[in-house]
Amino acid sequence: MSVPFGEPLHHGAMDAAVDLAAHSVAFPRRWWYPVARSSELGRKPLAVTLMGTPLAVFRGADGTPGVVLDRCSHRNYPLSLGRVTDEGLLQCGYHGWSFDQGGSCRFVPGLLETRTQSTWHVAAHAAVEQDGFVWAWGEPGAEPTRAPFALPVVAGRGAGETVFRIDLDSTLRAASENALDVPHTAYLHRGLFRGRRRNRITAIRRPVTDGIEVQYLGEPVGMGPLRLGEASGRTFDHWDRFLLPSVAQIEYAVQGWFRVVNTIVQLPLSPFRTRAWFVVRFSSPLPGPLVGTVVKLQGRRILGQDAEALARQTERSLQLGGERYASTELDLLGTAIWRLLRSAERAEQPDGEDLPLASVSERRVVFEA
Ligand code: FES
Ligand SMILES: [Fe+2]
Repeated sequence: MSVPFGEPLHHGAMDAAVDLAAHSVAFPRRWWYPVARSSELGRKPLAVTLMGTPLAVFRGADGTPGVVLDRCSHRNYPLSLGRVTDEGLLQCGYHGWSFDQGGSCRFVPGLLETRTQSTWHVAAHAAVEQDGFVWAWGEPGAEPTRAPFALPVVAGRGAGETVFRIDLDSTLRAASENALDVPHTAYLHRGLFRGRRRNRITAIRRPVTDGIEVQYLGEPVGMGPLRLGEASGRTFDHWDRFLLPSVAQIEYAVQGWFRVVNTIVQLPLSPFRTRAWFVVRFSSPLPGPLVGTVVKLQGRRILGQDAEALARQTERSLQLGGERYASTELDLLGTAIWRLLRSAERAEQPDGEDLPLASVSERRVVFEA
């Protein structure tokens, strides 16, 4: 069965009682999460969820974003179904109560005098716009303690960018592991990535700030059946990274020829549903728009296969009451991603002081791919 691109397979997965402790579900709150692309947020408010919590995203009068709990304090109506007033307030579509970006109720239609009460407020998340995304701080009513993830700049000849989005039936952990997993490409994406000849590759895994990185050495330059490197002896510079709380990044380059960085910016919509934006930035001798089109077409094809695999993986884990993993040294990132996510969640103390994150060990693996 094929999965319609980005369509949820099982809306009802969370209706049944699910033991979240049996699944890799962690939600570190003191981090920035992408809630929308800048380009999709216009005059109309948007509805998203962050780990199951409904949020309304809108732009204030000055154009800066606001993110509030998507529930009117008056009668629980979703604020995202309302509109943004000329004053930049988010106005409820039911009785017109109007809220600012801080969640304060600034206007109640019909009241003879202007007044407000703290019980009329809605919870608000700090929000910023950066690198073409609107980011919300995971903890409502809190002051951010760091900056959002900065997307890399890829400059030079033929520089360009293409972005596509998919919603996956998957935990953030499984989606991140899938994005960065090398061994599956020869099977799930047979023929699309790697050639028939297998090559010996060295992977070096090491910790980086707020994350983990794997560097691959000895990968011949090529794509699918195109194996340029085998004749020329040229190899890719290739890194895969996971950066808390929800960024996966794949970087490929050949010195003096091209560089492509695919940054996967993820929003955990709910425990088993993850929205992923693929921001592919590149420079090469070819015209940027052409490369962008090819990357998008090929990327969506590959992603369709990943989406189906992830949905099946999630479905089976839910059906059997939890996840279970057997791993080898080739599974370089899955466990490390989970350790990072869980340690970030556990590091958050009620008093606001955070504990240090778990450290990830360095590892060197030689394998065939
Ligand atoms: S429910 Fe929002 S104004 Fe009444
Ligand atoms: Fe894949």
